[in-house]
Amino acid sequence: MFPFLTIFPILFTLSASTPLAELLSSKSNADYSIQAVLVAGSNEYFNYRHQADVCHAYQVLRNHGVPAENIIVMMYDDIANNSENPYPGKIFNAPNGSDVYAGVSKDYTGEEVTPENFLGVLKGDKALAAKGKKVLTSGPNDHVFIYFSDHGGTGLVAFPNDTLSSDDLNKALVYMHDHEMYGKLTFYLEACESGSMFENILPDNINIYATTASSSEESSYACYCDAPKFGTCLGDEYSVAWLEDSDSHDLTKETLAQQFQDVVKQTTQSTPQQFGQKSLASLEVGQFQGVKASRKIYAVRHSSDSVNARDVPLVMLDRKIISTNDAAEAAVLEKKLQTLIAGRRFLEVSIKKIISQLCSNGYCSDAQQVLSTRRPLFNHATYSKVTKKFQSSCLNLGIHAHGMKFMYAFANIVESNKFTESTLNRFLKDLERACNDHIVYHGFKAII
Ligand SMILES: *[C@@H]1O[C@H](CO)[C@@H](O)[C@H](O)[C@H]1NC(C)=O
Ligand SMILES: *[C@@H]1O[C@H](CO)[C@@H](O)[C@H](O)[C@H]1NC(C)=O
Ligand SMILES: *[C@@H]1O[C@H](CO)[C@@H](O)[C@H](O)[C@H]1NC(C)=O
Repeated sequence: MFPFLTIFPILFTLSASTPLAELLSSKSNADYSIQAVLVAGSNEYFNYRHQADVCHAYQVLRNHGVPAENIIVMMYDDIANNSENPYPGKIFNAPNGSDVYAGVSKDYTGEEVTPENFLGVLKGDKALAAKGKKVLTSGPNDHVFIYFSDHGGTGLVAFPNDTLSSDDLNKALVYMHDHEMYGKLTFYLEACESGSMFENILPDNINIYATTASSSEESSYACYCDAPKFGTCLGDEYSVAWLEDSDSHDLTKETLAQQFQDVVKQTTQSTPQQFGQKSLASLEVGQFQGVKASRKIYAVRHSSDSVNARDVPLVMLDRKIISTNDAAEAAVLEKKLQTLIAGRRFLEVSIKKIISQLCSNGYCSDAQQVLSTRRPLFNHATYSKVTKKFQSSCLNLGIHAHGMKFMYAFANIVESNKFTESTLNRFLKDLERACNDHIVYHGFKAII
Protein backbone atom coordinates (compact mmCIF):
# COMPACT_ATOMS: atom_id res chain seq x y z
CA MET A 1 0.00 0.00 0.00
CA PHE A 2 2.62 2.46 1.12
CA PRO A 3 4.85 2.39 -2.05
CA PHE A 4 1.89 3.09 -4.33
CA LEU A 5 1.02 6.15 -2.37
CA THR A 6 4.46 7.65 -2.81
CA ILE A 7 5.12 6.69 -6.42
CA PHE A 8 1.81 7.84 -7.83
CA PRO A 9 2.26 11.51 -6.86
CA ILE A 10 5.81 11.48 -8.32
CA LEU A 11 4.60 10.19 -11.70
CA PHE A 12 1.81 12.67 -11.69
CA THR A 13 4.23 15.54 -10.98
CA LEU A 14 6.54 14.46 -13.80
CA SER A 15 3.91 14.31 -16.49
CA ALA A 16 2.26 17.48 -15.30
CA SER A 17 5.52 19.43 -15.51
CA THR A 18 6.58 18.10 -18.95
CA PRO A 19 4.86 19.87 -21.82
CA LEU A 20 3.10 17.52 -24.18
CA ALA A 21 4.93 18.85 -27.24
CA GLU A 22 8.28 18.01 -25.66
CA LEU A 23 7.18 14.48 -24.87
CA LEU A 24 5.99 14.00 -28.43
CA SER A 25 9.14 15.39 -29.98
CA SER A 26 11.42 13.24 -27.82
CA LYS A 27 9.34 10.27 -28.90
CA SER A 28 9.66 11.10 -32.60
CA ASN A 29 13.43 11.52 -32.31
CA ALA A 30 13.70 7.85 -31.49
CA ASP A 31 10.97 6.91 -33.94
CA TYR A 32 11.01 6.67 -37.68
CA SER A 33 8.89 5.23 -40.39
CA ILE A 34 10.26 3.37 -43.40
CA GLN A 35 9.33 4.66 -46.84
CA ALA A 36 10.44 2.83 -49.97
CA VAL A 37 10.65 3.42 -53.72
CA LEU A 38 11.01 0.37 -55.97
CA VAL A 39 11.64 0.86 -59.69
CA ALA A 40 11.95 -1.46 -62.69
CA GLY A 41 13.24 0.64 -65.59
CA SER A 42 12.49 -1.74 -68.47
CA ASN A 43 9.64 -3.28 -70.40
CA GLU A 44 9.30 -6.22 -72.85
CA TYR A 45 9.36 -9.93 -72.06
CA PHE A 46 13.10 -10.38 -72.62
CA ASN A 47 13.57 -7.98 -69.68
CA TYR A 48 11.14 -10.01 -67.49
CA ARG A 49 13.71 -10.18 -64.68
CA HIS A 50 13.74 -6.46 -63.74
CA GLN A 51 10.02 -6.40 -62.93
CA ALA A 52 10.38 -9.80 -61.21
CA ASP A 53 13.16 -8.34 -59.00
CA VAL A 54 11.01 -5.34 -58.11
CA CYS A 55 7.91 -7.41 -57.33
CA HIS A 56 10.07 -9.64 -55.12
CA ALA A 57 11.42 -6.54 -53.35
CA TYR A 58 7.84 -5.48 -52.68
CA GLN A 59 7.12 -8.91 -51.10
CA VAL A 60 10.31 -8.68 -48.98
CA LEU A 61 9.28 -5.32 -47.55
CA ARG A 62 5.67 -6.36 -46.97
CA ASN A 63 6.71 -9.67 -45.36
CA HIS A 64 8.98 -7.77 -43.00
CA GLY A 65 6.16 -5.47 -41.99
CA VAL A 66 6.57 -2.29 -44.08
CA PRO A 67 3.01 -0.97 -44.65
CA ALA A 68 1.80 -1.06 -48.26
CA GLU A 69 1.01 2.67 -48.16
CA ASN A 70 4.70 3.40 -47.46
CA ILE A 71 5.91 1.65 -50.63
CA ILE A 72 5.91 3.31 -54.07
CA VAL A 73 6.28 0.96 -57.04
CA MET A 74 7.15 1.96 -60.61
CA MET A 75 6.92 -0.88 -63.13
CA TYR A 76 5.75 -0.99 -66.73
CA ASP A 77 3.48 -3.94 -65.90
CA ASP A 78 3.61 -5.68 -69.27
CA ILE A 79 4.94 -9.02 -67.96
CA ALA A 80 2.14 -10.71 -66.00
CA ASN A 81 -0.25 -10.66 -68.99
CA ASN A 82 2.44 -10.89 -71.66
CA SER A 83 1.54 -13.31 -74.48
CA GLU A 84 4.91 -15.03 -73.93
CA ASN A 85 4.33 -15.58 -70.20
CA PRO A 86 3.66 -19.31 -69.62
CA TYR A 87 1.93 -18.48 -66.29
CA PRO A 88 -0.58 -15.70 -67.09
CA GLY A 89 -1.10 -13.28 -64.23
CA LYS A 90 1.98 -14.49 -62.35
CA ILE A 91 5.63 -13.46 -62.12
CA PHE A 92 8.44 -15.53 -60.63
CA ASN A 93 11.86 -14.42 -59.43
CA ALA A 94 13.20 -18.00 -59.14
CA PRO A 95 12.41 -21.18 -61.11
CA ASN A 96 10.77 -22.87 -58.12
CA GLY A 97 9.79 -19.74 -56.23
CA SER A 98 6.37 -18.36 -55.40
CA ASP A 99 4.42 -15.85 -57.45
CA VAL A 100 5.85 -12.43 -56.55
CA TYR A 101 3.28 -10.42 -58.54
CA ALA A 102 0.32 -11.19 -56.27
CA GLY A 103 -0.72 -8.18 -54.23
CA VAL A 104 1.85 -5.72 -55.60
CA SER A 105 0.38 -2.21 -55.56
CA LYS A 106 1.53 -0.52 -58.74
CA ASP A 107 1.70 3.23 -58.48
CA TYR A 108 3.33 4.15 -61.80
CA THR A 109 2.84 1.87 -64.81
CA GLY A 110 3.32 1.98 -68.59
CA GLU A 111 4.23 5.42 -69.88
CA GLU A 112 4.30 6.80 -66.34
CA VAL A 113 7.59 4.97 -65.75
CA THR A 114 9.83 7.92 -66.60
CA PRO A 115 12.94 9.54 -65.09
CA GLU A 116 10.90 12.72 -64.46
CA ASN A 117 8.30 10.86 -62.42
CA PHE A 118 11.00 8.93 -60.53
CA LEU A 119 12.79 12.18 -59.59
CA GLY A 120 9.40 13.73 -58.73
CA VAL A 121 8.63 10.81 -56.41
CA LEU A 122 11.98 11.22 -54.65
CA LYS A 123 11.54 14.98 -54.25
CA GLY A 124 7.95 14.69 -53.01
CA ASP A 125 6.78 16.66 -56.06
CA LYS A 126 3.61 18.59 -55.24
CA ALA A 127 2.29 18.59 -58.81
CA LEU A 128 2.39 14.79 -58.91
CA ALA A 129 0.78 14.57 -55.49
CA ALA A 130 -1.96 16.98 -56.63
CA LYS A 131 -2.72 14.58 -59.50
CA GLY A 132 -3.26 11.86 -56.90
CA LYS A 133 0.07 10.14 -57.57
CA LYS A 134 2.08 8.76 -54.67
CA VAL A 135 5.31 10.61 -53.82
CA LEU A 136 7.66 10.36 -50.85
CA THR A 137 6.29 12.18 -47.80
CA SER A 138 9.17 11.24 -45.49
CA GLY A 139 10.55 13.63 -42.89
CA PRO A 140 13.85 14.28 -41.08
CA ASN A 141 13.76 11.08 -38.96
CA ASP A 142 12.51 8.65 -41.54
CA HIS A 143 14.40 5.86 -43.21
CA VAL A 144 14.12 5.76 -46.98
CA PHE A 145 14.92 2.65 -48.99
CA ILE A 146 15.33 2.91 -52.77
CA TYR A 147 15.84 -0.04 -55.11
CA PHE A 148 16.24 0.20 -58.88
CA SER A 149 16.73 -2.59 -61.41
CA ASP A 150 17.41 -2.19 -65.13
CA HIS A 151 20.04 -1.67 -67.83
CA GLY A 152 22.79 0.87 -67.42
CA GLY A 153 25.98 2.32 -68.84
CA THR A 154 28.55 4.90 -67.79
CA GLY A 155 26.68 7.45 -65.62
CA LEU A 156 23.29 6.28 -66.91
CA VAL A 157 20.42 3.97 -66.08
CA ALA A 158 17.58 3.20 -68.47
CA PHE A 159 13.84 3.78 -68.34
CA PRO A 160 11.46 2.26 -70.92
CA ASN A 161 11.75 5.25 -73.27
CA ASP A 162 14.52 7.39 -71.75
CA THR A 163 17.59 7.45 -69.52
CA LEU A 164 18.47 8.99 -66.16
CA SER A 165 21.95 10.47 -65.65
CA SER A 166 24.11 10.17 -62.55
CA ASP A 167 24.09 13.96 -62.30
CA ASP A 168 20.29 14.21 -62.19
CA LEU A 169 19.96 11.31 -59.74
CA ASN A 170 22.55 12.66 -57.29
CA LYS A 171 21.09 16.17 -57.51
CA ALA A 172 17.74 14.71 -56.44
CA LEU A 173 19.38 12.90 -53.52
CA VAL A 174 21.12 16.08 -52.38
CA TYR A 175 17.78 17.92 -52.71
CA MET A 176 16.20 15.31 -50.45
CA HIS A 177 18.97 15.86 -47.92
CA ASP A 178 18.66 19.65 -48.06
CA HIS A 179 14.88 19.43 -47.61
CA GLU A 180 15.14 17.01 -44.67
CA MET A 181 13.30 14.25 -46.49
CA TYR A 182 15.10 11.48 -44.61
CA GLY A 183 17.15 10.71 -41.55
CA LYS A 184 18.97 7.87 -43.30
CA LEU A 185 18.72 6.58 -46.83
CA THR A 186 19.85 3.30 -48.39
CA PHE A 187 19.97 2.81 -52.16
CA TYR A 188 20.41 -0.59 -53.83
CA LEU A 189 21.10 -0.37 -57.58
CA GLU A 190 21.17 -3.15 -60.16
CA ALA A 191 22.43 -2.19 -63.63
CA CYS A 192 25.45 -2.65 -65.88
CA GLU A 193 28.30 -0.31 -64.86
CA SER A 194 26.12 0.75 -61.92
CA GLY A 195 29.12 1.89 -59.84
CA SER A 196 29.36 4.86 -62.22
CA MET A 197 26.04 6.23 -60.94
CA PHE A 198 27.65 7.06 -57.58
CA GLU A 199 31.44 7.02 -58.07
CA ASN A 200 33.00 10.48 -57.71
CA ILE A 201 29.63 12.09 -57.17
CA LEU A 202 27.62 10.74 -54.20
CA PRO A 203 28.66 12.74 -51.10
CA ASP A 204 29.83 10.66 -48.13
CA ASN A 205 28.38 12.95 -45.47
CA ILE A 206 24.65 13.16 -46.18
CA ASN A 207 23.52 9.92 -44.49
CA ILE A 208 23.17 7.99 -47.74
CA TYR A 209 24.58 4.49 -48.13
CA ALA A 210 24.47 2.95 -51.62
CA THR A 211 25.45 -0.42 -53.00
CA THR A 212 25.60 -1.37 -56.67
CA ALA A 213 25.62 -4.64 -58.62
CA SER A 214 28.86 -3.90 -60.42
CA SER A 215 31.79 -1.54 -60.62
CA SER A 216 31.73 1.45 -62.95
CA GLU A 217 33.27 -0.68 -65.72
CA GLU A 218 31.57 -4.06 -65.39
CA SER A 219 28.37 -5.49 -66.79
CA SER A 220 25.93 -6.84 -64.27
CA TYR A 221 24.56 -10.35 -64.75
CA ALA A 222 21.16 -11.88 -65.16
CA CYS A 223 20.49 -15.17 -63.36
CA TYR A 224 17.97 -18.00 -63.28
CA CYS A 225 18.36 -18.12 -67.04
CA ASP A 226 18.01 -21.94 -67.17
CA ALA A 227 14.26 -21.95 -67.01
CA PRO A 228 13.30 -23.29 -70.46
CA LYS A 229 9.58 -23.00 -69.89
CA PHE A 230 9.97 -19.25 -69.36
CA GLY A 231 12.44 -18.58 -72.18
CA THR A 232 13.83 -15.59 -70.29
CA CYS A 233 15.97 -14.92 -67.21
CA LEU A 234 13.94 -14.66 -64.00
CA GLY A 235 16.32 -12.54 -61.95
CA ASP A 236 19.61 -10.68 -61.70
CA GLU A 237 22.53 -11.98 -59.63
CA TYR A 238 23.02 -9.04 -57.27
CA SER A 239 19.29 -8.44 -56.84
CA VAL A 240 18.38 -12.06 -56.19
CA ALA A 241 21.33 -12.18 -53.76
CA TRP A 242 20.01 -9.41 -51.51
CA LEU A 243 16.37 -10.41 -51.92
CA GLU A 244 16.94 -14.04 -50.96
CA ASP A 245 19.28 -12.92 -48.18
CA SER A 246 16.51 -10.72 -46.75
CA ASP A 247 13.98 -13.53 -47.17
CA SER A 248 16.08 -15.86 -45.07
CA HIS A 249 17.52 -13.62 -42.31
CA ASP A 250 16.38 -12.01 -39.10
CA LEU A 251 16.62 -8.40 -40.22
CA THR A 252 16.67 -7.13 -36.63
CA LYS A 253 20.09 -8.79 -36.25
CA GLU A 254 21.72 -8.71 -39.69
CA THR A 255 23.52 -5.46 -40.55
CA LEU A 256 23.71 -3.83 -43.96
CA ALA A 257 27.44 -4.65 -43.95
CA GLN A 258 26.70 -8.35 -43.37
CA GLN A 259 24.09 -8.33 -46.11
CA PHE A 260 26.60 -6.70 -48.44
CA GLN A 261 29.20 -9.39 -47.68
CA ASP A 262 26.62 -12.10 -48.41
CA VAL A 263 25.66 -10.36 -51.64
CA VAL A 264 29.32 -10.17 -52.70
CA LYS A 265 29.61 -13.95 -52.16
CA GLN A 266 26.47 -14.72 -54.14
CA THR A 267 27.28 -12.36 -57.01
CA THR A 268 29.73 -14.47 -58.96
CA GLN A 269 30.15 -12.50 -62.19
CA SER A 270 30.48 -8.85 -61.12
CA THR A 271 31.88 -6.97 -58.14
CA PRO A 272 29.25 -5.22 -56.00
CA GLN A 273 30.40 -1.85 -54.65
CA GLN A 274 29.58 0.43 -51.71
CA PHE A 275 29.34 4.23 -51.88
CA GLY A 276 28.41 7.18 -49.72
CA GLN A 277 28.34 7.11 -45.95
CA LYS A 278 29.68 3.63 -45.27
CA SER A 279 29.32 4.01 -41.50
CA LEU A 280 25.57 3.46 -42.03
CA ALA A 281 26.39 -0.14 -42.97
CA SER A 282 26.60 -0.97 -39.26
CA LEU A 283 22.80 -0.46 -38.99
CA GLU A 284 20.46 -3.43 -39.13
CA VAL A 285 18.86 -4.18 -42.49
CA GLY A 286 15.48 -4.10 -40.71
CA GLN A 287 15.80 -0.35 -40.28
CA PHE A 288 15.24 -0.07 -44.06
CA GLN A 289 13.39 -3.25 -45.01
CA GLY A 290 11.25 -3.85 -41.93
CA VAL A 291 11.79 -5.76 -38.71
CA LYS A 292 8.97 -8.29 -38.68
CA ALA A 293 10.11 -11.93 -38.77
CA SER A 294 9.51 -13.40 -42.20
CA ARG A 295 9.37 -17.02 -43.18
CA LYS A 296 11.91 -18.07 -45.80
CA ILE A 297 9.89 -18.54 -48.95
CA TYR A 298 12.22 -18.58 -51.93
CA ALA A 299 14.68 -21.19 -53.16
CA VAL A 300 18.34 -20.32 -52.78
CA ARG A 301 20.34 -20.38 -56.00
CA HIS A 302 22.46 -23.41 -56.50
CA SER A 303 23.21 -23.46 -60.18
CA SER A 304 25.49 -21.17 -62.09
CA ASP A 305 23.02 -19.97 -64.68
CA SER A 306 24.15 -16.38 -65.14
CA VAL A 307 24.25 -14.49 -68.41
CA ASN A 308 25.81 -11.09 -69.09
CA ALA A 309 22.82 -8.74 -68.87
CA ARG A 310 23.67 -7.30 -72.29
CA ASP A 311 23.65 -10.70 -74.00
CA VAL A 312 20.31 -11.94 -72.65
CA PRO A 313 18.28 -11.30 -75.85
CA LEU A 314 20.90 -13.11 -77.97
CA VAL A 315 21.34 -16.06 -75.60
CA MET A 316 17.59 -16.55 -75.19
CA LEU A 317 16.95 -16.53 -78.95
CA ASP A 318 19.83 -18.95 -79.44
CA ARG A 319 18.44 -21.35 -76.82
CA LYS A 320 14.96 -21.21 -78.33
CA ILE A 321 16.37 -22.04 -81.77
CA ILE A 322 18.24 -25.03 -80.36
CA SER A 323 15.25 -26.37 -78.42
CA THR A 324 12.50 -26.05 -81.03
CA ASN A 325 11.54 -29.01 -83.23
CA ASP A 326 9.50 -26.82 -85.52
CA ALA A 327 11.54 -25.86 -88.59
CA ALA A 328 9.31 -22.92 -89.50
CA GLU A 329 9.54 -21.51 -85.99
CA ALA A 330 13.32 -22.02 -86.00
CA ALA A 331 13.57 -20.04 -89.25
CA VAL A 332 11.57 -17.14 -87.79
CA LEU A 333 13.72 -17.11 -84.65
CA GLU A 334 16.91 -17.37 -86.70
CA LYS A 335 15.85 -14.34 -88.74
CA LYS A 336 15.16 -12.41 -85.52
CA LEU A 337 18.57 -13.37 -84.17
CA GLN A 338 20.37 -12.33 -87.35
CA THR A 339 18.55 -8.98 -87.37
CA LEU A 340 19.59 -8.39 -83.78
CA ILE A 341 23.21 -9.29 -84.47
CA ALA A 342 23.24 -7.07 -87.56
CA GLY A 343 21.76 -4.19 -85.54
CA ARG A 344 24.42 -4.50 -82.87
CA ARG A 345 27.19 -4.70 -85.47
CA PHE A 346 25.77 -1.60 -87.19
CA LEU A 347 25.81 0.28 -83.89
CA GLU A 348 29.35 -0.73 -83.04
CA VAL A 349 30.63 0.40 -86.44
CA SER A 350 28.58 3.61 -86.22
CA ILE A 351 29.99 4.52 -82.82
CA LYS A 352 33.51 4.07 -84.21
CA LYS A 353 32.66 6.38 -87.11
CA ILE A 354 31.12 8.97 -84.75
CA ILE A 355 34.19 8.98 -82.49
CA SER A 356 36.50 9.22 -85.54
CA GLN A 357 34.54 12.20 -86.83
CA LEU A 358 34.70 13.87 -83.39
CA CYS A 359 38.47 13.27 -83.34
CA SER A 360 38.77 14.89 -86.74
CA ASN A 361 36.73 17.80 -85.29
CA GLY A 362 39.58 18.17 -82.78
CA TYR A 363 38.14 16.59 -79.61
CA CYS A 364 40.52 13.63 -79.56
CA SER A 365 43.57 12.49 -81.45
CA ASP A 366 42.98 8.78 -81.88
CA ALA A 367 39.55 7.14 -82.07
CA GLN A 368 40.98 3.70 -81.36
CA GLN A 369 42.52 5.00 -78.17
CA VAL A 370 39.25 6.65 -77.08
CA LEU A 371 37.46 3.33 -77.61
CA SER A 372 40.06 1.19 -75.86
CA THR A 373 40.49 3.16 -72.64
CA ARG A 374 38.25 4.10 -69.75
CA ARG A 375 38.89 7.29 -67.84
CA PRO A 376 37.12 7.56 -64.48
CA LEU A 377 34.18 9.97 -64.75
CA PHE A 378 34.46 13.07 -62.58
CA ASN A 379 32.64 15.69 -64.61
CA HIS A 380 29.19 14.15 -64.24
CA ALA A 381 27.41 17.46 -64.96
CA THR A 382 28.96 18.00 -68.41
CA TYR A 383 28.71 14.30 -69.26
CA SER A 384 24.99 14.39 -68.38
CA LYS A 385 24.47 17.13 -71.01
CA VAL A 386 26.33 15.04 -73.58
CA THR A 387 24.19 11.97 -72.85
CA LYS A 388 21.01 14.03 -73.20
CA LYS A 389 22.19 15.20 -76.60
CA PHE A 390 23.01 11.62 -77.58
CA GLN A 391 19.61 10.48 -76.31
CA SER A 392 17.68 13.15 -78.24
CA SER A 393 19.74 13.34 -81.45
CA CYS A 394 21.35 9.92 -81.90
CA LEU A 395 19.65 6.95 -80.37
CA ASN A 396 16.97 6.43 -77.75
CA LEU A 397 18.99 4.46 -75.20
CA GLY A 398 15.85 3.65 -73.23
CA ILE A 399 14.68 1.51 -76.16
CA HIS A 400 18.10 0.54 -77.53
CA ALA A 401 19.75 -0.14 -74.19
CA HIS A 402 22.63 -1.96 -75.88
CA GLY A 403 23.91 1.46 -76.96
CA MET A 404 24.69 2.25 -73.32
CA LYS A 405 27.64 -0.09 -73.64
CA PHE A 406 29.47 2.52 -75.72
CA MET A 407 28.78 5.61 -73.66
CA TYR A 408 32.13 5.35 -71.83
CA ALA A 409 33.73 6.68 -75.03
CA PHE A 410 31.86 9.97 -74.59
CA ALA A 411 32.84 10.07 -70.92
CA ASN A 412 36.48 9.74 -72.09
CA ILE A 413 36.03 12.73 -74.41
CA VAL A 414 34.39 14.79 -71.65
CA GLU A 415 37.26 14.01 -69.29
CA SER A 416 40.03 14.75 -71.79
CA ASN A 417 38.52 18.08 -72.93
CA LYS A 418 38.16 20.95 -70.51
CA PHE A 419 34.89 22.13 -72.04
CA THR A 420 33.72 25.66 -71.40
CA GLU A 421 30.10 26.57 -72.06
CA SER A 422 30.88 27.67 -75.61
CA THR A 423 33.20 24.78 -76.51
CA LEU A 424 30.64 22.38 -75.08
CA ASN A 425 27.90 23.90 -77.24
CA ARG A 426 30.12 23.51 -80.28
CA PHE A 427 30.82 19.90 -79.29
CA LEU A 428 27.10 19.14 -78.91
CA LYS A 429 26.46 20.47 -82.43
CA ASP A 430 29.33 18.38 -83.81
CA LEU A 431 27.98 15.34 -81.95
CA GLU A 432 24.54 15.84 -83.48
CA ARG A 433 26.07 16.13 -86.96
CA ALA A 434 28.14 12.97 -86.48
CA CYS A 435 25.07 11.11 -85.21
CA ASN A 436 23.02 12.20 -88.20
CA ASP A 437 25.76 11.11 -90.56
CA HIS A 438 26.34 7.70 -89.04
CA ILE A 439 23.16 6.60 -87.20
CA VAL A 440 20.01 8.66 -87.70
CA TYR A 441 19.96 8.87 -91.49
CA HIS A 442 20.40 5.09 -91.65
CA GLY A 443 17.07 4.48 -89.91
CA PHE A 444 18.19 1.26 -88.29
CA LYS A 445 15.36 -0.10 -86.13
CA ALA A 446 16.43 -3.33 -84.40
CA ILE A 447 19.44 -2.62 -82.26
CA ILE A 448 18.12 -3.34 -78.74
C1 LIG B 1 -4.27 -9.09 -66.75
O1 LIG B 1 -5.37 -9.88 -67.14
C2 LIG B 1 -6.35 -10.01 -66.13
C3 LIG B 1 -7.42 -10.99 -66.63
O2 LIG B 1 -7.83 -10.67 -67.92
C4 LIG B 1 -6.95 -8.65 -65.82
O3 LIG B 1 -7.89 -8.73 -64.79
C5 LIG B 1 -5.81 -7.72 -65.38
O4 LIG B 1 -6.28 -6.40 -65.18
C6 LIG B 1 -4.69 -7.68 -66.41
N1 LIG B 1 -3.59 -6.94 -65.88
C7 LIG B 1 -2.87 -6.08 -66.61
C8 LIG B 1 -1.76 -5.42 -65.91
O5 LIG B 1 -3.06 -5.88 -67.78
C1 LIG C 1 13.32 -26.80 -59.25
O1 LIG C 1 12.61 -27.99 -59.06
C2 LIG C 1 12.97 -29.03 -59.94
C3 LIG C 1 12.03 -30.20 -59.74
O2 LIG C 1 11.53 -30.24 -58.45
C4 LIG C 1 14.44 -29.39 -59.68
O3 LIG C 1 14.85 -30.41 -60.56
C5 LIG C 1 15.29 -28.16 -59.89
O4 LIG C 1 16.64 -28.43 -59.55
C6 LIG C 1 14.81 -27.01 -59.04
N1 LIG C 1 15.54 -25.80 -59.43
C7 LIG C 1 16.01 -24.91 -58.55
C8 LIG C 1 16.78 -23.78 -59.12
O5 LIG C 1 15.81 -25.00 -57.36
C1 LIG D 1 9.61 8.31 -76.41
O1 LIG D 1 10.61 9.28 -76.51
C2 LIG D 1 10.58 10.03 -77.71
C3 LIG D 1 11.80 10.95 -77.69
O2 LIG D 1 12.97 10.19 -77.71
C4 LIG D 1 9.29 10.81 -77.79
O3 LIG D 1 9.24 11.51 -79.02
C5 LIG D 1 8.12 9.84 -77.69
O4 LIG D 1 6.93 10.55 -77.64
C6 LIG D 1 8.25 8.98 -76.45
N1 LIG D 1 7.23 7.95 -76.47
C7 LIG D 1 6.48 7.70 -75.43
C8 LIG D 1 5.49 6.61 -75.62
O5 LIG D 1 6.57 8.31 -74.38
